[in-house]
Amino acid sequence: MKLLVKSFGCQMNKLDTALVTSALEDAGFSLTESVKEADVVLINTCSVREHAEQRVLSHMGHLKHIKESRPDLVVGVIGCMAQRLGDRLLEHEAVNIVCGPAEIPQIKELITEALKEKKKSLAVTKKIRRKAPDEKSQALEEFESAYGIEDESIPAQAFVRVMRGCNNFCSYCVVPYVRGPEVSRPPEAIIEQIKKLADHGVKQITLLGQTVNSYKYKKGEKTWSLADLLDAAGNIDGVEWLRFVTSYPSEEFFDEIMQVMAGSPRVCEYLHMPAQSGSDKILHAMNRNYTGAWYLELLDRARAIVPDVSIAGDFIVGFPGETEEDFQATVDMVEKARYKNAFIFKYSPRPGTASDKRLQDTVSAEVKQRRNVELLAVQEKISDELSRDFLGKQVKVLVEGLSKKPHLNSIEGGGNPQLVARTATDYIVVFNGPVSLAGQFSDVKITKTSPLTLFAERV
Ligand code: SAH
Ligand code: SF4
Ligand code: F3S
Repeated sequence: MKLLVKSFGCQMNKLDTALVTSALEDAGFSLTESVKEADVVLINTCSVREHAEQRVLSHMGHLKHIKESRPDLVVGVIGCMAQRLGDRLLEHEAVNIVCGPAEIPQIKELITEALKEKKKSLAVTKKIRRKAPDEKSQALEEFESAYGIEDESIPAQAFVRVMRGCNNFCSYCVVPYVRGPEVSRPPEAIIEQIKKLADHGVKQITLLGQTVNSYKYKKGEKTWSLADLLDAAGNIDGVEWLRFVTSYPSEEFFDEIMQVMAGSPRVCEYLHMPAQSGSDKILHAMNRNYTGAWYLELLDRARAIVPDVSIAGDFIVGFPGETEEDFQATVDMVEKARYKNAFIFKYSPRPGTASDKRLQDTVSAEVKQRRNVELLAVQEKISDELSRDFLGKQVKVLVEGLSKKPHLNSIEGGGNPQLVARTATDYIVVFNGPVSLAGQFSDVKITKTSPLTLFAERV
């Protein structure tokens, strides 16, 4: 039986894809990249913005077309959109299975049944905001630690979830409604998993959580924080680089985490900590519990402890009620924060969230677009300045693999293809080298820079 899995979401979503894929490989499926060959197609979906859902729906339209000539093809939709839409997605002609993120331990059974009998099946979590019954959390925990070790999508790199769900309820955000309440995984399970990955040759581990810095696990007398996890993981043989995403701007454990970063050569000097807006009025309406000034002070504190820390952020432009003045406050914040890069999104109302229920989507599409472009330009100038500092310097990078640009990555024709790599501080570096360097560390010298990419030569 041949399986095709496609991921349309964030890092959490990709991690679920890796778990499901390896569970199904274990059950005898082999992977294919071609829909033509596939007996089963799984789509792992995202609900965070309307655009993300639209991409999935258009892909499903394509699958429906294919199923007209191949009615036996089994199509499963997993992930956040499966949880959000449930039986409404099951009504789609192309779809056989709808399975939410907390139900993936059942995926093998669901597929086996769908292949045998032509019935549709739905596995979504009812009352998603309730604490899951013990047997269910247990099943998820077992699934999580049993699979995904062989995920080679980026050589020598792996992702380890340290917590599930989110309790923050930022007013625009669908995640708490599709991923459920915040649950931190037991530290021993996380450490065990990292040891296994290191034994398999993994060199970089990224710890994942929606608000990863609020990781908290009470074990006997001690409450484990992310700082404790990083400290313990940094002592595991073979783990060379450790990262964690995404951080919520919060006082709790903040100094401890930054101190571990300062003290451990293995914890990368990189912090992804979204601000979302620079306007206090908008931050309040977003239910983010801080002011712009306080957030900037937190960045100062981070830089006081780890002077070279590189910081990335996220912003939403065009949140309901955002005036030119509010937007200007965001521009000011971006200018002061000196991010390495910032992800900028246009507000997208999500059904069921507080901002969608209570506030009108007042900012027009044109204004959102203009603010998006303007903010990107402000950030690009800063990214360019920060990148220029690398000129002529030697840096250590971890090589991810061939460049995605086909005209630069050709292996034929003698010379070395272009490779993509990253610094510990998450700068993207491209250079020419043998493809055998994928998954290896390499020392390179920066010869040219652009806002988002550094160009280098091997030394
Ligand atoms: N848990 C992470 C991010 C989750 S979603 C955090 O809190 O930082 C990733 C990003 O998508 C968010 O940081 C936010 O900038 C953006 N986002 C979330 N909901 C959105 C919405 N309804 N419209 C536009 N952007 C949104
Ligand atoms: Fe969404 Fe806010 Fe939770 Fe991030 S912290 S996942 S933006 S609710
Ligand atoms: Fe990730 Fe999208 Fe779900 S951002 S957690 S896949 S809604």
